[in-house]
Amino acid sequence: MLEVQWVDVKNKIDERGKLSIIQNAELPFEIKRIFWIYDVERGMKRGNHAHYNSRQFTLCVRGSCKILLDNGKEKREVNLKADNKGIIVEPYMWHHMSDFSEDCILLVLASNEYDERDYIRSYDEFKQTYKL
Ligand code: TYD
Repeated sequence: MLEVQWVDVKNKIDERGKLSIIQNAELPFEIKRIFWIYDVERGMKRGNHAHYNSRQFTLCVRGSCKILLDNGKEKREVNLKADNKGIIVEPYMWHHMSDFSEDCILLVLASNEYDERDYIRSYDEFKQTYKL
């Protein structure tokens, strides 16, 4: 079965509320870019691509969603929820997010700055180029 790389996020809880922390040293890459996906309409899907180079760490900071991972050989659907755990999405990993809760905020920390040339947006092309 496709192995999922989970990373735990530290959090501090006290009577004032909760604080979660991600430091560069806890990730297998240096963070160059941060983006988040939110206000996704019911039934909408996001992603549906792979990257040639970019590595990403993704987690729900609020709500929940599903992420389908596909390395060209095996597929695995993972439930993400706001429980201070996220997953690493490596290059050549086709991914596809769905079932966003209304309140979902999906945070993504990426190893590269945005470059459309880093995207494999065609599944056929992905199937031809994937590396295992
Ligand atoms: P898109 O890749 O379609 O989003 P998803 O991750 O859900 O597949 O990105 C939506 C738009 O935002 C598209 O025009 C590209 C742009 N974009 C940036 O300009 N910078 C970024 O870092 C990202 C992730 C997207």
